[in-house]
Amino acid sequence: MVTDKVMGIFSNDMSIDLGTANTIVIAKGKGIIINEPSVVAVKTNKYGKQSILAVGKEAKDMVGKTPGSIEAIRPMREGVIANFDITEKMIRYFIEKAHRRKAFIRPRIIICVPHGLTQVERKAVRESAISAGAREVFLIEEPMAAAIGAGLPVKEAQGNLVVDIGGGTTEIGVVSLGGLVLSKSIRVAGDKLDAAIVDYVKKKYNLLIGERTGEEIKIEIGTAVTLEEEIKMVVKGRDRVSGLLNTIELSSEDVRESIKEPLKEIADSLRDILAIMPPDLAGDIVENGIVLTGGGALIRGLDKYLSNIVKLPVYVADEPLLAVAKGTGKALEEIDLLQQISYE
Ligand SMILES: Nc1ncnc2c1ncn2[C@@H]1O[C@H](COP(=O)(O)OP(=O)(O)OP(=O)(O)O)[C@@H](O)[C@H]1O
Ligand SMILES: [Mg+2]
Repeated sequence: MVTDKVMGIFSNDMSIDLGTANTIVIAKGKGIIINEPSVVAVKTNKYGKQSILAVGKEAKDMVGKTPGSIEAIRPMREGVIANFDITEKMIRYFIEKAHRRKAFIRPRIIICVPHGLTQVERKAVRESAISAGAREVFLIEEPMAAAIGAGLPVKEAQGNLVVDIGGGTTEIGVVSLGGLVLSKSIRVAGDKLDAAIVDYVKKKYNLLIGERTGEEIKIEIGTAVTLEEEIKMVVKGRDRVSGLLNTIELSSEDVRESIKEPLKEIADSLRDILAIMPPDLAGDIVENGIVLTGGGALIRGLDKYLSNIVKLPVYVADEPLLAVAKGTGKALEEIDLLQQISYE
């Protein structure tokens, strides 16, 4: 349709990867325009009225460092919306920031949401986008977006297996002929690894550290396998016994030990999916291997670790942190793909 084409050119159609850790916005024809943590800093005044102080990176930098009246909130946790109101405000903020109020035509917005959202939560996401000015909202599921973004041939009659390890959830999906044939979502991903590190450091070294520090440790020296040369990091915190500030040296072996359990849960889920795989698809997976996406795919040696357990080749996608966003963005450019994979 001519009008649709014209609209396509002039509207600011966009896609949003609404992740529990990071939100990435792509504008049609422009690529990534926003890539920020899904964090909102809220100030409560003496009458109990809340106002938004910061969103994104600026807000994340406040986590664990706010005075009483300010709270840095991650409104989405474990793949679900923990705080409706703040999630809506965050979506609205990102949409408005992407627009910069230039557009006079209301955009179409594609939003990739965690797989496990309830009907009510999906409605909330859709409505916040509409109230922020969207003309039409399409929702797509994370494993599908991850597979597209990782460059897998999702429309073909062959099975491809993708494991997206985000902040809140690990989503495992088998994709074939443009649909999700099998999928599984568990609430074990980056955040659980951070928490496991915090817990380990507390128990083994009597040192109290916050979740931001847990994440920093994971990124800097986290590993799923034995390294040829173990790496170390200096960690600061508060001694649980004396209450004084203290410094310890933590090794990659420590971190591997601390994240053993959550990693095993991820591997077990992958095994569960492989166990119920229809034989014809199983043959495809043996041939194609398994692709890892999401920030969790960046943990050192995770590909090797999983490959040893399931005895299949495992690859890390290019730019795994961007895979879901790129997949969602591709649906912006290909309307037939969007129609095939989006849902109400
Ligand atoms: N180099 C790294 N090594 C290990 N983990 C990393 C690295 N970089 C980022 N991460 C982790 O990746 C996670 C964020 O990944 P991602 O942006 O894919 O999640 P998300 O899409 O927001 O979450 P979800 O998909 O669960 O809603 C965080 O837990 C972060 O700590
Ligand atoms: Mg994600």
